[in-house]
Amino acid sequence: MIISKKSNIKRNISIPSDKSISHRAIMLGSLATGTTRVSNFLLSDDCLATIECFRQMGITIEEGRDIIIHGKGLHGLQKPSKALYVGNSGTTIRILSGILCGQNFDTVIGGDSSINQRPMDRILIPLRQMGANITASKDDSLAPLHIRPSRLSSIAYKSPVASAQVKSSILLAGLYAKGITSVEEAVLSRNHTELMLEGFGAEIESSATKASIKGLANMKGLNIRVPGDISSAAFFMVAGLIIPDSEIYMDNIGVNPTRAGIIKVLKDMGGDITLSNHRIECGEPVCDILVRSSKLKGTEISGDIIPSLIDELPIIAVAACLAKGQTIISDAKELRVKECDRIDAMTKELNKMGADITAKDDGMIIRPVNMLKGTYVDTYNDHRIAMSLAIAGLVAEGETIINNSECISISFPQFAEIINSF
Ligand code: S3P
Repeated sequence: MIISKKSNIKRNISIPSDKSISHRAIMLGSLATGTTRVSNFLLSDDCLATIECFRQMGITIEEGRDIIIHGKGLHGLQKPSKALYVGNSGTTIRILSGILCGQNFDTVIGGDSSINQRPMDRILIPLRQMGANITASKDDSLAPLHIRPSRLSSIAYKSPVASAQVKSSILLAGLYAKGITSVEEAVLSRNHTELMLEGFGAEIESSATKASIKGLANMKGLNIRVPGDISSAAFFMVAGLIIPDSEIYMDNIGVNPTRAGIIKVLKDMGGDITLSNHRIECGEPVCDILVRSSKLKGTEISGDIIPSLIDELPIIAVAACLAKGQTIISDAKELRVKECDRIDAMTKELNKMGADITAKDDGMIIRPVNMLKGTYVDTYNDHRIAMSLAIAGLVAEGETIINNSECISISFPQFAEIINSF
């Protein structure tokens, strides 16, 4: 992908649907009885991997204007004829593993080289506490995972990480255990699973940082409309703020408070951001977002807000390079175990473009520079690194050449088309 400098971008941009919610719709729709119709489903590589896994287990999923899932109930999945393959999708492998632990057949589940290096102990520990029979690879902590039938018991788990993948994995395993399974976090991670489980009729209770589910739920099919993904909108929020004379409007964006930390941070940095048309759809808060070019100032980002913007930190780093004053990001060590080590990746690649960033163990110190300059940059096969660098390229002098940008289809297949239309 080759990007050059732009100004005066005045657009309505249609943002793809939420990846986290799309995955969950397939999983819960498959475990409910009857038909689940999902409109605005995200047809990206990651979500297609989830669909394929459930098809392998005997669920009929129709792909048309809407996605229609013919759910077979909690005990309706069948043994797949081969190992399940999740591609690059951490959400699929971690959450689906919780479901697989409750099945009366054994499965092997793995993914691409990135997935097979990402930590799985965070789900293995609680699932094994529930009685799951899982064997992992390399030092018994990495995918592929081999999951055998076992009788699960409910647990009350205090999670050492604020991770929605971990929480969801345990809650969905909890569907197969008698009694109440609960997960408590230090800071609430994204709560789409809890909201959707409630919609499907499961008995789930949520308090500030704890979710509890009653096992053996009888879930019924549902109509779901997926909002736009704030993690994808984030790229064009920052683009609208840093490209001169620009105004970008995006409608129908999910602004669940467990996801919307970027709006607060960009506003604190001086960003001109207007939210309008607030509404609730399928239990999720949604609104329209307008951003206008702004003079940004540096900020400090740390503590409890981190889980609500963890995926947006790479693009926030781009905004911070061009802000007045230093930005410090801390308490974000989780960035090191995403699709790649996002602290190292953003530090190395933005510095190649003339940025002044020092990596810290748990974040970055970003000192402002007058301008970025285009050059060859690498994506580490990580969609969010690729898109962050592309937005940096829109304000950089000269051409920015992004190697290996195909990974963008993990979450945002139309991204190149939109950028090329600027
Ligand atoms: C996700 C949870 C987050 C996020 C990921 C999607 C989800 O990961 O980074 O992109 O859909 O549950 P963690 O659970 O590891 O924080």
